[in-house]
Amino acid sequence: MFEELISFCKNRGFVYQSCSLYGGLQGFYDYGPLGVELKNKIKQSWWNEMVKRRSNVFGIDSNIILSDKVLSSSGHLDGFEDVFKDCRNCKSRFRIDEVKDVCLNPKCGSRDFTPEKAFNLMMKVNVGPTEGNYAYLRPETAQGIFINFKNVMDSFSPKLPFGIAQIGKAFRNEVTPKNFILKTREFEQMEMEFFIKPGDNDYYFEQLKEQRKQWWNKQGVEVVFYEQGKDELAHYSKKTTDIMCDFEGTLQELEGIADRQDFDLGSHTKAQSEFDIKAKVKPNTTSIDKLSHFQEKLIPHNIEVSAGVERAFLAILYSAYKKDGDRTVLKLPAHLAPFKAAIVPIVKNKEDIVSCAQGVFDKLQDAGILDVKFELTGNVGKSYAKHDEIGTLYCISVDHESVKDGTLTIRDRDTREQSKISIDKLIELLR
Ligand code: GAP
Repeated sequence: MFEELISFCKNRGFVYQSCSLYGGLQGFYDYGPLGVELKNKIKQSWWNEMVKRRSNVFGIDSNIILSDKVLSSSGHLDGFEDVFKDCRNCKSRFRIDEVKDVCLNPKCGSRDFTPEKAFNLMMKVNVGPTEGNYAYLRPETAQGIFINFKNVMDSFSPKLPFGIAQIGKAFRNEVTPKNFILKTREFEQMEMEFFIKPGDNDYYFEQLKEQRKQWWNKQGVEVVFYEQGKDELAHYSKKTTDIMCDFEGTLQELEGIADRQDFDLGSHTKAQSEFDIKAKVKPNTTSIDKLSHFQEKLIPHNIEVSAGVERAFLAILYSAYKKDGDRTVLKLPAHLAPFKAAIVPIVKNKEDIVSCAQGVFDKLQDAGILDVKFELTGNVGKSYAKHDEIGTLYCISVDHESVKDGTLTIRDRDTREQSKISIDKLIELLR
């Protein structure tokens, strides 16, 4: 099923291997015409839920490239690494937590490995014309939030608790990119840092966990929680619960909820000794601002929710992809369907029918209903099958009767039931 879904993604214009014209670039993918629609809708759903519906959450959009000073203070320059070893026989590379004594390549099975080697996962870039002036592509969008904490405080003076959220690209030079788009070197994150008074950590952690589970359910994805063991925690986290989804019997992480305490603001603040910082932070001698809350005169703690867009994309497709008798149907929730409706003239060589269908299409567009496809195949059955497969909610067929009295036939993706509808009712329904 997973393999079938990968072919489906390519054939139906959701996901393509990046640079495939030149043999491909491992760990990078491009998104096709339907993929970009689905991706945008996932991000919009997250943004609506985490920013628009919350009066105490502020959205930002910070830079992808970060100064090494930021990433030194955040602990990423020292601690953000994978340890790997290579099989000397077949040259396969493994993260050491993925392999024990025997090579995992089924055709190899050798026990002869190179010594373990640590490797920083961040991607370095040269900034400006002078060689050696390095910065990094951000490994998480969260750092852009922490370094804008004071800007948001200055502009809006929010009381605690409040959040700052952003969606954007992140880059990790993963040693072993794998599982299609689940583990790539370029991906997008949807992150919100919720700043709270110290002591309120458990309350907001539990609240956000539940809220995030509900969001996944609304996207049609069943999830379970997994609490990380102490040895699994990232360097900044006191406690992390992952939201996991079952892919063919294997649980995969979709999102992490972490109690980062005061690690981040404490790491990036100047005058650290003036505050009672709970987390273990590196001394900071380069920051020029205090990242305390003005009224509370303390460094807030923060609970983070951090989801991957591509993992959401795949989990949603995987959950929606169904075989129903002889047809394949993508049962996406309505707000995620790339097209709400397809307008299908029953023939393509009768001018009155085609122009009537074009009129319906134009009226929907004029009414602001833009997620509509004009489907001029002349084969109604094929059009239905194609649109079932890409998740279109309704097919609207236009025939001789439509030309005479304006009535249209609407077919429901999930039930396959057909009924008559007027254009006004159709606009109301699609709205
Ligand atoms: N700011 C916290 C953070 O970055 P993370 O667990 O490393 O935590 C959060 O990443 C989410 O980002 C993951 O749950 C996953 O959905 C996504 N993610 C992380 N690495 C990824 C990769 N290499 N490819 C695709 N998605 C990734």
